[in-house]
Amino acid sequence: MTKEIKTIGVLTSGGDAPGMNAAIRAVVRTAIARGLKVKGIKKGFQGLLNDEVVDMERKDVSDIIQKGGTILGTARSSEFKTEEGQKAGAEICKKNKIDGIVVIGGDGSYRGARALSKFGVNTIALPGTIDLDIACTDYTIGFDTAVNTAMQAIDKVKDTSSSHERCSIIEVMGRNAGYIALWCGVANGAEDILLPEYYDFNEQTIINNIIANRKKGKTHHLIINAEGIGHSTSMAKRIEAATGIETRATILGYMQRGGSPTAIDRYYASMMGAYAVDVLIKGHTNRVVGYKAGEFVDYDIDEALEMQKNIDEYQYEISKLL
Ligand code: F6P
Repeated sequence: MTKEIKTIGVLTSGGDAPGMNAAIRAVVRTAIARGLKVKGIKKGFQGLLNDEVVDMERKDVSDIIQKGGTILGTARSSEFKTEEGQKAGAEICKKNKIDGIVVIGGDGSYRGARALSKFGVNTIALPGTIDLDIACTDYTIGFDTAVNTAMQAIDKVKDTSSSHERCSIIEVMGRNAGYIALWCGVANGAEDILLPEYYDFNEQTIINNIIANRKKGKTHHLIINAEGIGHSTSMAKRIEAATGIETRATILGYMQRGGSPTAIDRYYASMMGAYAVDVLIKGHTNRVVGYKAGEFVDYDIDEALEMQKNIDEYQYEISKLL
C-alpha cells in the first residue's frame, strides 16, 4: 500500500546555488495547492538533527525567486553521515509529522536522502549545484547563473590583461568537475582551458603556446584553470619565469556561487520543485529529479549515484581549436 503524504518537508544541503530559492518556492506553493502542509528545515541535515523545523505558508516564499543563496540556509553535516545520525533525523521527521522530504543539493545530499528513505521517510532529491557534475541530469540548479557570473568577471580581467599585455590565469570553481571552466573557456575565448578531466600537467605545452601567440602579435593570453587543478598562483610564477611575460593569477572563488539567478535557473528550478512534490504525492520514495532530452524525469537514487558523467570529448576538442 502506498503511503499517503500529508506533510512535506524541504531542505537545502551542501554548497548553496542560485535558483535554490526558486525551487523552495515551487515546493511550498505546489504542495499547498495540492492540499498538503509544508515544513521548512533550516541548515540542511544538521538543522534537521537540531530540530530546526518551521511551518511554511505561501507568503513565506514571497519575493525570494530573484534572490541568490538559500533562505533555508545550508550546511555539510558529518553527524548525518553516521547511521545513528540518520536514524535520529528520520525520528525528528516523524515527530514533526513529515511524511516526505524534498532535498535540494549535490550528490552528497542524495546519500542523506537515501538514508532517510531507508528509515521510513519518503524522499526525493533535486540537483542543486553550480558544478553541473550530476550524471542523471543535463541541468543542475545554479550552473547557468554561476557560469554567467564567471564569464562576466573574466571579460573584465581580460580587458586589463590585454591593456598590460599580460598573461592571465583565472581559476573558476569546480572541485572535481571542469564544466564551469570549459564553458567559460569557450565563452570568454580563452587561449588555454585546463580541466581536471583532461589536464596532463604539462606546463611546457602552455608555455610554448604563450610564446608562439606572442610572436604572432597577440597582446593577451587567457588561461582558464579549474579549481580541481588549482595552484594558479604558483603556476603564474612559473609561467612568468619561463616566458618573461608578466603573468597574474585571479581566483574567482565564492562570488560564483552567489547572486541573482538567471531566468534559466529560476524557471528550471521552479519546474523541478513542483515535479518533486508531484512525485512524492504518488507515494514514490528514494527518487531524484533530472532534466534529460528536454523533459523532467526521475530516477531511483541508487541508480542515479551509479551513473557516470564525463565532459564530452568532442566538446573538449572543439574548445581547444577555437
Ligand atoms: O558548490 C560546489 C562547489 O562550489 C565546488 O565547486 C567547490 O569546490 C565547493 O563547492 C566548495 O564548497 P565549500 O567551500 O563551501 O565547502
